[in-house]
Amino acid sequence: MIEIIDLHKRFGELVVLDGVSLSIPPGETTAIIGPSGTGKSVLLKHIVGLIEPDSGQVICFGTDMAQASERERYAVRRRFGMLFQDGALFDSLSVGENVAFPLERHTRLSPREIRDRVEEKLAVVGLPGTWDRAVSQLSGGQRKRVGLARAIVMEPEVVLFDEPNSGLDPLTSDQIDTLILDMKQALGITFVIISHDIIGTVRVADHIAMLNAGKLVAWDRTEAVLRSPEPVVRAFLRRNLVLPEAEGEQAHLPRAEEARRG
Ligand SMILES: Nc1ncnc2c1ncn2[C@@H]1O[C@H](COP(=O)(O)OP(=O)(O)OP(=O)(O)O)[C@@H](O)[C@H]1O
Ligand SMILES: [Mg+2]
Repeated sequence: MIEIIDLHKRFGELVVLDGVSLSIPPGETTAIIGPSGTGKSVLLKHIVGLIEPDSGQVICFGTDMAQASERERYAVRRRFGMLFQDGALFDSLSVGENVAFPLERHTRLSPREIRDRVEEKLAVVGLPGTWDRAVSQLSGGQRKRVGLARAIVMEPEVVLFDEPNSGLDPLTSDQIDTLILDMKQALGITFVIISHDIIGTVRVADHIAMLNAGKLVAWDRTEAVLRSPEPVVRAFLRRNLVLPEAEGEQAHLPRAEEARRG
């Protein structure tokens, strides 16, 4: 579905991606983790062709994004929903107008059809009947939900989500994760998420890719990454997976204890 092949990218002297290869399996959730400034967001922007690689390839649905014409790239991008790290909602528009925005720009649906589609997606993210709410009055968690509704309003096959949990308390963060799990199940959406919330990542991700100093230092199924012997991976995970499960608590942390020991 998405193939990243030996990607190299530098900004001036700064080498950000130094030979990254990765394939994103369809219908599953892949998390990209790693320290700040390691190029996670840059990698995500390569996937949709917003940044061009110095060398290497990004192939989405069989299209080489760097070689493609603007028209071909556009056709591919329509199959993606994106929530960028800095991707803000329009504060001057209502919730409904924000979610309707891509439909108004990219489709010829009638106002009635747009309204119905938006209401449907708002219900999916747990905010039914909120069309008229002012975005400026929403909490951080509600804003994430509206962003998610906007990302899925074009019914994408893949959703790229840069930091779904940033700035959220643990419970709200959990709710967003649950939403991602549900949407994968119910809608078959492929998610690529970037997250610093390792506990949430372990819960939602089928695969984890870890970037460090321009290289992929882990890339495997989540359980396998938790057992990785790689010191840099262990150090990164150990910092975050410190809580053993309490009696009867839902198992959110498969093998967390095991990853922590060893
Ligand atoms: N357009 C750009 N021009 C120049 N440098 C850039 C550009 N985009 C990103 N960078 C640099 O590339 C490096 C990687 O940035 P990136 O945003 O991908 O980090 P990140 O892994 O997403 O970090 P964080 O976890 O803090 O979001 C940073 O040093 C950043 O300053
Ligand atoms: Mg980032």
